[in-house]
Amino acid sequence: MLTKEEYQESLSIKKAWKEKVKLDEYRLKFHLMPPTGWLNDPNGLCEFHGINHIYFQYSPFTPTWGMKLWGHYTSKDWIHYDEEEPFLFADSKGDKDGVYSGSAYVEKDRIHFFYTGNVKYTDKEYTYISDGREQNTIQVLSEDGFTHQEKKLVLSANDYPSDMSCHVRDPKIYKRDGVYYMLLGARTLNERGCVILYRSSDLTNWQYHMRIESSTPFGYMWECPDLFDIDGTTYLLCCPQGILQKGIDYANVYQCGYFEIDIDLELKKYHLSDFVELDRGFDMYAPQTFEDEDGRRILIGWMGIPDADYDNQITVERGWQHALTMPRQLCSQQGKLLQKPLFEFQQLRGSKQSLYIQNEATVKVSSTYECNLHFDSCQQIEIQLKQGVSLQYQNQMLTLSLDACGCGRKKRSVRLEALTSLQIFMDTSCLEIFINEGSEVFTSRYYTNEQACIQCIGQFKAGIDVYELGTFIINDVVE
Ligand code: FRU
Repeated sequence: MLTKEEYQESLSIKKAWKEKVKLDEYRLKFHLMPPTGWLNDPNGLCEFHGINHIYFQYSPFTPTWGMKLWGHYTSKDWIHYDEEEPFLFADSKGDKDGVYSGSAYVEKDRIHFFYTGNVKYTDKEYTYISDGREQNTIQVLSEDGFTHQEKKLVLSANDYPSDMSCHVRDPKIYKRDGVYYMLLGARTLNERGCVILYRSSDLTNWQYHMRIESSTPFGYMWECPDLFDIDGTTYLLCCPQGILQKGIDYANVYQCGYFEIDIDLELKKYHLSDFVELDRGFDMYAPQTFEDEDGRRILIGWMGIPDADYDNQITVERGWQHALTMPRQLCSQQGKLLQKPLFEFQQLRGSKQSLYIQNEATVKVSSTYECNLHFDSCQQIEIQLKQGVSLQYQNQMLTLSLDACGCGRKKRSVRLEALTSLQIFMDTSCLEIFINEGSEVFTSRYYTNEQACIQCIGQFKAGIDVYELGTFIINDVVE
């Protein structure tokens, strides 16, 4: 348990700790990170009356995996943020071992939150796969996004299909033809990842409806499912675990991507495309999307991944770990998702340099920058983004390479027919690279603060615009 009262009693510790985190040179300037401690999945993303709510898996008192609450930031413009008091605490029988991931559904002036209450038995030895764990689906209603009504248990083990293991979690709501569907990520007892769907006419009473799985097994667990439509195409996002690396594909320990899905929910019939990886870098997992009040489908991911063989030990020693990715607007192009940073980030742009470069160039930059390259031609190029962080494009393969500054992160690649554009966001200890208008993305942490110039060498012609980037303004509402 970690109740609101217990949290408030420890606030003085957090305050001192926060000052220490603020001094860290690797603290991020334009990515949301935990004020102290640990952050993982984005949760409950929504815009309500002009305010974007970004809740997240949060362990304020440890920079490593710990008891989960829902931390909370709000923003009206994606540049100025308020750090709010955590929204959900682990304070009830159904979520005593953690308020796990979940989502928000805005309707009729209210926000309906659904999340997984984690309960772990410790009275004897368990596998925690087929036994020893409850994953309860809990609903809370809110009229403002800051306070909520009582927690209501809507689904628990007995409501899940009998061939499910104890791993059933991460509810997300989808509405079609006036009917609500709740998706839950699941692991069957015979180790098959899938999504199970419940159906409701009132968001309160849920009946089991169907399951979605790939025609041949694809991993043992699908975490954090999400279903949405863009321009008439439906996508199913999920994070399959248990997929083996295949060449340059599935290079991370767990996957994060999507299927285009053609689904008839009435007839319970569907067809899944091949799985597409959402991000080709080292640090992106458990993304969630929402539609904002302007009708944009926005995705935010956890810039981190569990159980990787690389680390962030440097920030752990400084009292914090992980971050969220920049919010990305999704567009659909022939069954493929394009990801573009929100245009609001242009507000961070400071001084600008514009050049036309050919085959070789060195451009001075500040430690945090945005660099946009538009290629008129590119046979091959090597770009040093920072000391020890580079991109190479050769033989239709784009590779991100990190030396020791990757803390175990080495190379990630993606195949491209041509390299036409790069939009690179370099923060103090992370980067996001949007390739060919967002058709591929590399997200990664890195730890170096040496060198402040971009060096390009190869056979290419390109326009380059480099901006110095500013910092988010984060206001502590809590204290
Ligand atoms: C994904 C995840 C979710 C779970 C949450 C717990 O990173 O494992 O499936 O709800 O994290 O923090």
